[in-house]
Amino acid sequence: MANYDLIVIGTGPGGYVAAIRAAQLGLKTAVVEKRATHGGTCLNVGCIPSKALLFASEKFEEAGHSFASMGITVPAPKLDLAAMQAFKDKGVDGNVKGVEFLLKKNKVDAYHGVGKILAPGKVEVTAADGTQQVLETKNILIATGSDVAQLPGVTIDEEKVVSSTGALALKRVPGKLVVVGAGVIGLELGSVWRRLGAEVTVVEYLDRILPGMDGDVAKSFQRILQKQGFAFKLGTKVTGVDTKGKTLKVSVEPAAGGAAEVLEADVVLVAIGRVAYTGGLGLAEIGVETDKRGRVVVDHHYKSTVDGIYAIGDVIAGPMLAHKAEDEGVAVAELLAGKAGHVNYDVIPGVVYTFPEVASVGKTEEELKEAGIAYNVGKFPFTANGRAKVNNTTDGFVKFLADAATDKVLGCHIIGPEAGEMIHEVCVLMEFGGSSEDLARTCHAHPTRSEAVKEAAMAVEKRAIHM
Ligand code: FAD
Ligand code: NAI
Repeated sequence: MANYDLIVIGTGPGGYVAAIRAAQLGLKTAVVEKRATHGGTCLNVGCIPSKALLFASEKFEEAGHSFASMGITVPAPKLDLAAMQAFKDKGVDGNVKGVEFLLKKNKVDAYHGVGKILAPGKVEVTAADGTQQVLETKNILIATGSDVAQLPGVTIDEEKVVSSTGALALKRVPGKLVVVGAGVIGLELGSVWRRLGAEVTVVEYLDRILPGMDGDVAKSFQRILQKQGFAFKLGTKVTGVDTKGKTLKVSVEPAAGGAAEVLEADVVLVAIGRVAYTGGLGLAEIGVETDKRGRVVVDHHYKSTVDGIYAIGDVIAGPMLAHKAEDEGVAVAELLAGKAGHVNYDVIPGVVYTFPEVASVGKTEEELKEAGIAYNVGKFPFTANGRAKVNNTTDGFVKFLADAATDKVLGCHIIGPEAGEMIHEVCVLMEFGGSSEDLARTCHAHPTRSEAVKEAAMAVEKRAIHM
């Protein structure tokens, strides 16, 4: 007889949420985690520490630049980086302890060590001191997440050539920071170090930033970041980093071919994506199929190619986002408990937590064009929003994309402070299959930035009032 109904390998946002939901539904559940603390990439070295540094560095910049315009005179702010890092660490500690508490509260057994699947129903756990035990279970859930993608020929030492993990723990502000990759990590962590004083150059292989986001949004956002001091080298690839001298020499050349150039840097951040992590799980031996990008292949119910073995989160296909992993965790637990778990992949918001923030849900214009779907656009700038004007934060806009025939909202894209909070009313609208008119007729409090969402919805039928 199996000891457990479910053993979850990995306690990131996917794994710990699945374990808690399974326990709530009466399944005898255990988790296996190789890190000393729970919470995975997100809580330990991802979402949570990055948002702490983004918050603190934004305050630092505000104190230095925007206070005076509001009539607040303060001495020039001084940076105590060690204290800022301690502020970040305290936030991480509170969050990871919170997960430990929740697992205990829900009577989920936690094993610390590396999990390996010996066979369906059998998980071997190897603790840090080498001791091993084999646990038995009806079902196994792989929630082992992802790891940093490596740039061929460039070795990450986490001091001078860093991944996001090293970039979150720098002990000194680099004079010159070269970021490889204009994706979410590059722009968020580039923002942190620029605000604290680094000169930031972002080298991106493609001819645009934030691939996958709406092109119009990416273009405007790039202009905003350039105004803040970011330098971009688009359509450019890094061919090597020479670490021998006092400063790093980063060799770059046009992606399409052409003259090479050398950039000097104190620190290089490699942020070119992440890859599914399945190291040490023993998947090949037991016949769990992975795709050509190393992700576990699953069906609509998150079942792998082997009965009794499931997978969710960054280790399977789809956006590598904590909330996607969490929702899949809830869905798989409900399915295992005989309920109807489900994730609506058409309504997963994505947020870049810079200043201003960028938030997006549903289709981009490029995707609609490619699918041949006729659509209407409603766009409203924050320069025409009363609250944004009075707070002197008018960069950005709200953009709706609605089906030309039915007016059903297909996508929404926002650049602006708090865009990551504002996007959720559109998520709810889309979850209910709503139209732009539904939102346009919903009363919004005045004066709020959310009125720009309403006005953009009104603009779909060219009836925005303040524009
Ligand atoms: P993970 O969080 O990676 O957790 C997997 C866990 O499994 C890890 O703890 C690992 O130690 C453990 N594990 C692996 N193999 C084994 C094994 N064999 N045995 C035992 N344990 C094992 N997403 C957002 O939505 N919003 C953000 O703001 C955001 N910011 C980010 C910032 C950074 C710098 C980074 C790197 C990522 C960020 N992400 C963000 C992405 C987010 O962190 C991931 O999408 C999310 O953590 C995926 O969750 P997961 O549960 O699938 O895997
Ligand atoms: P990313 O996929 O967002 O961006 C990587 C960028 O690097 C792309 O623009 C790509 O074109 C570029 N690139 C790839 N190879 C290159 C090369 N050789 N030279 C130059 N550029 C190259 O990946 P990123 O930023 O590393 O983030 C990884 C994951 O973490 C993402 O999937 C993201 O969803 C998640 N994340 C989410 C956050 C959020 O939700 N706010 C914050 C940080 C990370």
